[in-house]
Amino acid sequence: MKKIIVTGLFSGMALVPALAGAQISEDPTYSNEVARIMQDNCQICHQEGNIGPMPFTSYDEVRPYVGLIREAVISREMPPYHYDRDIGIQELKEDWRLDQEDIDTIVAWVDAGALEGNSANLPEPIQYPEIGEWRLESDLGLPDLVIQSAPWDVPANGQDMWWNPLVTTGITEDRCIKAIETLPSRAAHGSTHHANSQFETRNEDGEWETYGRLSEFAFGKLGEMVPEGACRTAPADSMVRWSIHYYPDGTAVADDQVSVGIWYQDEDFDETGVYRQDLRGYGLQGGDFDIPPHGKLMTQGFHSFDHPVRLDSWQPHLHLRGVAMTMEIFTPINGRREVVSQASNWNAGWNHSHIYDEGAQPLVPAGATIILTAWYDNSADNPLNPDPDQWVGMGQRTTDEMSHAWIAVTHLDEEGYERMLAERGEERPNAAQRRRF
Ligand code: HEC
Repeated sequence: MKKIIVTGLFSGMALVPALAGAQISEDPTYSNEVARIMQDNCQICHQEGNIGPMPFTSYDEVRPYVGLIREAVISREMPPYHYDRDIGIQELKEDWRLDQEDIDTIVAWVDAGALEGNSANLPEPIQYPEIGEWRLESDLGLPDLVIQSAPWDVPANGQDMWWNPLVTTGITEDRCIKAIETLPSRAAHGSTHHANSQFETRNEDGEWETYGRLSEFAFGKLGEMVPEGACRTAPADSMVRWSIHYYPDGTAVADDQVSVGIWYQDEDFDETGVYRQDLRGYGLQGGDFDIPPHGKLMTQGFHSFDHPVRLDSWQPHLHLRGVAMTMEIFTPINGRREVVSQASNWNAGWNHSHIYDEGAQPLVPAGATIILTAWYDNSADNPLNPDPDQWVGMGQRTTDEMSHAWIAVTHLDEEGYERMLAERGEERPNAAQRRRF
C-alpha cells in the first residue's frame, strides 16, 4: 500500500520501514510491527476527533479491539478502499489497500495473544496534518479560489444525512485547473464523511445542468492534481452543486460549511498540445429499472467516443443496494473485452475515486465501448439495505438507485493516442490480434 499520509512534511518518516529484517521476531508484537501498520494505515482516521469510532494510537487503545481488527483487515473492510486486487489495473495513486504481508502480520499477532512487546521499540509517533488546513498548501500555496457549501446545522447525534446545496462559483472566465482539494471545517471534521461537488452551467434554455464533476472527498483523501498535459476547465458563470454526507459524531456544529479549493494553471499556461480532461458520470443512460423486494439485479451501461481517450480515474456510484461494479473495454477491431477495474465488495458508505498511475491509465481507441456493469442486492443479505421489502427504482434519493461511474476522461486525437502508445511500447489494437477458435 502506498501511504495514506503523503504530505511533504512527514512522508519521509512514514516511509522508513520500522525495523530492519534482523530485528523482526518470529512472533510479531505491537511495539515491533503492529504499531507501524496502525500508523501508516489506520491512525489518520482512528485518532481522537476523527471519523474512526475508536482511536488506535497506543497499545492500550488497540488491545480491546484486536478481534475486530483481525476481522476487518481479513475481510478488507478496513482500511476502507474497495477495489479488487486480482483483476484489472493495479497501479493506483493513493491506494489505501493493505499489503498482504501486513494483514498476515496482524493475524499472526492476534492469534499469538496480541502481545505488547518492548515499548522501547515503538516507532516515533506521526505528526498528522493540522485539521482544517489545506494539505496542498505546502506545495502550491493557498488556493486561487475557494467555494463553500451553504451553511448546514450538523446535530450532535442522529442518522446519516445528505446536504445538496447549489452555490455560485463567481468564476468569470474559463480557466484550466491545476489542482483541487476539498476541506471539511475544523469543527465538523469528524462528521464529514464525504463531500462531492460538481459544476453546473446554463443550457440553451437557461436551465442549470451538469457540466462536469469538480471534486470528490472521502475522509482521509488528499487533494487531486490534474495530470500533466491535460486541462480540466473551471467554467465561467457556473454554479457548484454539493453532495455532502454528514454522520453526526457527538459534536453539534451550527452553520457548517465545506470548502473546495481550486488552484489554476498560471495565466500564461501554454495550451498547445494540451488535451481537455473532464470528469463525468458514465453508465446507464436514460434507462430505468426496478429491483423487486428481496431481489437482485444487474445493469449495464455502454459508452463510446468518436475519438481516442485516456481514462484517468474511476469511481463507481451506486446507492444502498449497489454491491459491485466493473468497468470493461470492448475493442471491436480485435474482439477483445477486458476488465480494467472492478470493485466486488463496493460499499455506499465510502466513495473513492481510483486514480490510475501515470502510464497505467487505459488508452481507449476511437469506437471502442466502455461497459459499466453494476450489481444490486435488495435482500436482507446486504447489510446496508434499509428495507428489503421495498421495490427500488432509479432516482436521486439515497433510497433510490443509480448506475454510473464518475470517470476522468482526457480527450485525445489520433496523434496523441499514437504517441502515448509508443511511450508505453504498445501497439494500436488491430485485427491480427483477434483470437481464432
Ligand atoms: C478513512 C478512514 C479510516 C481508515 C483509514 C481506517 N478506518 Fe477503521 N473505521 C473507520 C470508520 C468511519 C469506522 C466506522 C464504521 C464505518 O463507517 O464503516 C471504522 C471502523 C473500524 C472498525 C470497527 C468495525 C466493526 O465491526 O465495528 C475496526 C476494527 C477498524 N475500523 C479497524 C481499522 C484498521 C485496523 C485500520 C487500518 C488497517 C482502519 N480501520 C483504517 C474509518 C477508517
